[in-house]
Amino acid sequence: MKHTKVTDCRLIELPKIHNRSGNITAINGLTEIPFDIERVYYLYDIPGGAERGGHAHKELQQMIVAASGSFDVLIDDGKNQKMISLNRPYYGLLVEPGIWRELHNFSSGSICLVLASQHYKESDYIRDYEQFIKIKNHA
Ligand code: TYD
Repeated sequence: MKHTKVTDCRLIELPKIHNRSGNITAINGLTEIPFDIERVYYLYDIPGGAERGGHAHKELQQMIVAASGSFDVLIDDGKNQKMISLNRPYYGLLVEPGIWRELHNFSSGSICLVLASQHYKESDYIRDYEQFIKIKNHA
């Protein structure tokens, strides 16, 4: 697994096209974000108190956007942790592979939009935290 650190993940301010009748934010692969987008998915109808994530990816790069509402993302590289609050649709959190992530504190009606560099592949997931720590420390 990659030797990535929490500091390799960053918040990217996305362009915002203002309009009296609403705003638009466009995200182009390899332009606003450093990878080609192969998959888009979104979490919605998230019940109060629910937590998502709780895994790391071996290769997948992702950008996480609070398309509506707000939530917190905890990122962890096995040594350092950081909590990032997402609450604007024109900020995206770039999460590199080899980073454990957990999503907490979803506001009611929030939508978590995720842009991903690869199709869904269960073999790319590490879902066990102990195993994550072991792999990270021996990588
Ligand atoms: P998971 O990635 O564990 O969800 P989260 O990180 O949001 O808590 O995925 C939950 C389930 O959905 C899991 O059984 C796999 C499935 N899934 C797909 O089939 N395709 C996808 O693109 C994603 C993200 C998940």
